[in-house]
Amino acid sequence: MAIRKIATVGNPVLRQEAKRLTREELLLPETQRFIDDLVETMLDANGAGLAANQVYTPIQVCALHVKDNPRYPYKPNIPLTILVNPELTFLTEETFLNNEGCLSVPNLRGDVPRFVHIRVKAWDRHGELIDREVKGLTAGTYQHETDHLFGKLFLDRVQDTHSLTTWADFERFHQKAFVERATALVARFGS
Ligand code: NI
Repeated sequence: MAIRKIATVGNPVLRQEAKRLTREELLLPETQRFIDDLVETMLDANGAGLAANQVYTPIQVCALHVKDNPRYPYKPNIPLTILVNPELTFLTEETFLNNEGCLSVPNLRGDVPRFVHIRVKAWDRHGELIDREVKGLTAGTYQHETDHLFGKLFLDRVQDTHSLTTWADFERFHQKAFVERATALVARFGS
């Protein structure tokens, strides 16, 4: 396994739609090794998720994992999850304003509207079907990672540019209010 370099905003690899994988491609040893690297890189960087194109490999694979995450201490835990060829359906029109950061957008955070209730269809890393509903703050994480695979960054979805902030100024000026919002959302949806 190896820790890969993470592409940052401005790199065209982040802006291209990632290629869907066939089951045969997914099960190749080299693809499985790549997924191991993706996970190791995400854990090393304390990411809540990481998409393949963020490590210069534009295929439809992303990883999610939250366990007492120091970058996002208010996020509920998400077990290690690999999504291959994910497709999201929005099950409500209701959105919440999620405050997001991204390993590919160093030292910037901003408020992004995300749907509170989604359905996720994908394969896991072995090509087994994942079909689940996801709610609340965790649904925001799924939407952020899936966006990457379609060439979108959270910056594209920021509606109020006044919400953009460095990480230090987020903690100083905005974290308290956001954590109250996030905690209420987690209490409502359990995730
Ligand atoms: Ni990101």
